[in-house]
Amino acid sequence: MSIQMEIRRHTLRSLAKMKRNKERVAMLTAYDVMTAQCLDEAGADVLLVGDSLGNVVYGFDSTLPVTLDMMIAHTGAVTRGSKRAMVIADLPFMTYQASIEEALRSAGRCLSEAGAQAVKVEGASTYMVDMIKRLMEAGIPVMGHIGLTPQSVHQMGGFYTHGSTESSYDRLVREAIALEQAGCFSIVLECVKPEVAKEISEKISAITIGIGSGNVCDGEVLVINDVLGYTAGKAPKFATTYANVKETVRDAGLAYVKAVKGIVRGESESKSES
Ligand code: KIV
Repeated sequence: MSIQMEIRRHTLRSLAKMKRNKERVAMLTAYDVMTAQCLDEAGADVLLVGDSLGNVVYGFDSTLPVTLDMMIAHTGAVTRGSKRAMVIADLPFMTYQASIEEALRSAGRCLSEAGAQAVKVEGASTYMVDMIKRLMEAGIPVMGHIGLTPQSVHQMGGFYTHGSTESSYDRLVREAIALEQAGCFSIVLECVKPEVAKEISEKISAITIGIGSGNVCDGEVLVINDVLGYTAGKAPKFATTYANVKETVRDAGLAYVKAVKGIVRGESESKSES
């Protein structure tokens, strides 16, 4: 009789246990079935279907044009490709900011139509805190996101490190506490000074996930294309690249093109006929 190990997805409880046991959480973005399958097999704990897909998959210059339908299609693919990782869908710009009712419907679709286990939202305003509480009441787990929040790029006036001044340091700590109190099980800290990221990680029991914030958080996330060396432009300075997939794809494409063009049309058929 063969004993088959049951493969179970990560849950809020298993991730919380990781924080208690000081085991770091490895999170990566994924947008398609094969990448999800590979990263799941590699042991990634969380797969985020980030709205960064607007930049890295669709070639937009910001995340603002991403729609809920795009997110649902890609999240469905990532859910189907993975077995063990928790799958989180980013709620795109203007699918949760206008009203709590719209936020509930947008988040609900990510769970019911795409199979996500949680959603991620950016910001920590009073509205956001109320909205997150309502999502939690509806049984929708929420990951928060503070520091550099790309959906507010125009308001922020660019990409820079947050928490450098005393007031921005204190604001980030207050925001993280407010998000945890609202019910967020985890919070992304993007481009946050490592000193603040460390203080937040020690102060709250929600899982902190850093990106461009040093290695002081409970876990880390990177955009998969940056990790693979498969980025259209330049990867951010903080991202470590572990492969050169762009070169591999170009080389395979080149080999194919050469092979096709090297064969004279009909040559092999005429040889075998003679
Ligand atoms: O959209 C995204 O990929 C993200 C991560 C970088 C945190 O929000």
